[in-house]
Amino acid sequence: MHLTRDEELLLQGERGDTLRRAMEILVALGDIYGAERLVEIKSAQIAGVSYKTIGDAGLEWISDLDGRVAVPSILNPAGMDLLRWREMSIDEDFARKQLEIIDAYRRLGVTIECTCTPYLLYESIAARGDHLAWSESSAVAYANSVIGAMTNREGGPSALAAALVGKTPLCGYHLEENRVPTHVISVEADVREYGSLGFLVGKIVGDGVPLFMMRSRPDRDGLKALGAAMAASGSVALYYVKDVTQEPPQYEPSACEHLVIDEDDIMSVYNSHADVDIVALGCPHCSLQELERIADLLEGRNVSKELWVCTSRRIAESAPDIVKRIESSGAKVICDTCMVVSPASERFSHMMVNSGKALAYIPGMCGIKASFGSLEECINAATGGS
Ligand code: F3S
Repeated sequence: MHLTRDEELLLQGERGDTLRRAMEILVALGDIYGAERLVEIKSAQIAGVSYKTIGDAGLEWISDLDGRVAVPSILNPAGMDLLRWREMSIDEDFARKQLEIIDAYRRLGVTIECTCTPYLLYESIAARGDHLAWSESSAVAYANSVIGAMTNREGGPSALAAALVGKTPLCGYHLEENRVPTHVISVEADVREYGSLGFLVGKIVGDGVPLFMMRSRPDRDGLKALGAAMAASGSVALYYVKDVTQEPPQYEPSACEHLVIDEDDIMSVYNSHADVDIVALGCPHCSLQELERIADLLEGRNVSKELWVCTSRRIAESAPDIVKRIESSGAKVICDTCMVVSPASERFSHMMVNSGKALAYIPGMCGIKASFGSLEECINAATGGS
């Protein structure tokens, strides 16, 4: 990979050990993926925050760095609500380690917002055509597909390295030629939950680039759910929805695989929820509109099962009345974390979700059963209604 004179100096350690290590990561990745050079990034979103997923080795690695990030950088969800972790039954030892991780990122100049939906908090964090180094898979899919920015699915260390240097290798989805559709998906159904469609399609297309033709028009929350599910059941990082998202670059339709998804296919994702002992919403983190809808659905009802509503702290703090309406039912609005990356999920046995991503990840990451239902079905399951 070609390096500028300044980049060479960073790699030689002229500006300290942290930047040297960061450059080593970027150069190694660039060489593996055949990048010609590095490209400047607008922002970074850094995974590897939950103590549950990175453990002591990750904590030690981050604590050992002493630079400052060069671009606006934000964190992925942590393993607990950073303020209300006791209400989640998180143990003291886990909490202490988790807070040490957060402090280590703070020292590096990373903004302490732990969310997979940074685009809902800061419009300036990514715009069409910007190069980014984001790592959470649903955020990556949203950035590439809905915003029209360009990012690969970074690992935690490579996103942090890119944040410190302010650059990432120019390869993968940073190049127009890798952004053409590989599959054309005709959806012959009215989709209610885009997470169910995404769960299905991700399994089929793997790491492909699907172009959807559908009669229903997903809004931004629908696109968020669609991309998240495909990124989890497959590893989709970019998709298009005709007449909804940006247009794909010129492509050859005959080179694509063509598939039809019908109502029966979509309904096969929904499954039984007779014995659920927890319902969790907000994967990806709820938008303000989603919080409002949940508050409306819970109006005048009380939960009979644990109900978590996961969102970013900034969104929750922007809407105290809505949070109060949700929590007056007995539900908990949980910030900074989620049902997948928190160990708190592990004390339950069967979780009901309205997210294709959580459906894909909960069994493996939390060791419990997961079922999928619509938002209304989830609220009914939590409140004992029908
Ligand atoms: Fe976000 Fe956690 Fe889902 S990080 S996309 S809420 S698994």
